[in-house]
Amino acid sequence: MEIIIEPDYEKMSKTSARIIAAEIRRKHDSVLGLATGDTPIGTYKELVKVHEIEGLDFSKVRTFNLDEYVGLAPPHKNSYNYFMWDNLFNHVNVSLSSVYVPQGNTDDPEQFCHWYEEQIQKAGGIDLQVLGIGGDGHIGFNEPGSSFASRTRVKALEEQTVKDNARFFEKEEDVPRFAITMGIGTILEARKILLIANGEKKADVCAQFIEGPVTSQITASSLQLHSYVTVVLDEAAASKLKRTEYYNWVRDNKHLVEKRVGR
Ligand code: PGA
Repeated sequence: MEIIIEPDYEKMSKTSARIIAAEIRRKHDSVLGLATGDTPIGTYKELVKVHEIEGLDFSKVRTFNLDEYVGLAPPHKNSYNYFMWDNLFNHVNVSLSSVYVPQGNTDDPEQFCHWYEEQIQKAGGIDLQVLGIGGDGHIGFNEPGSSFASRTRVKALEEQTVKDNARFFEKEEDVPRFAITMGIGTILEARKILLIANGEKKADVCAQFIEGPVTSQITASSLQLHSYVTVVLDEAAASKLKRTEYYNWVRDNKHLVEKRVGR
């Protein structure tokens, strides 16, 4: 894992947007896996700027979102589909037919999940998967205990996740208890992974998934099994890491590292 520590949320967002933009420039028809939540809002804002100012072209880009609440129709204001249009898709030249977000109000979730996996395969797999991390260590809605072999499916949400996400809803009772989410197995098949996190409330869980043991109790720790992961944190989220000096050395000597390690 490459760990990049930035001083604040703004820098974290700029760096992660640069990583995504570089991927799109490298491969114009990149397949991106995208995340929702507070964390990536700044990253999407930066990407929109790169599109507007530097002409970053999304016309051939295809996107697959990680997850969606069960029961929420795409236009619902709390749906992740709405979030994505509001924060990114409406502001760049992505084509409507290239955007996939799990359908929360599907009549047949099992069949839908199967179809979603098929679409990812048909697109050639995900080139770059963007992830946030939940307070309980989840990626997507893969709550503690999720199998590392899991595929897109319906998952019941943890109490902590419901509480964390209640801020977006009028009352806690309105937060759906189930979500469709890509599985850990689905996520680990992406060619590259970019996880972003900010704020002190993520410090413990970041230390656990980066420097702790691989465990299904912190599903983000499964990323230790992947060969190409970049983690971009602000200083607050990185504040409980033990090997900060090493991460910073690697970053400051990137030219040397790239020459020797190839990345
Ligand atoms: P957040 O959510 O970005 O709103 O903190 C992250 C997540 O739950 O994956």
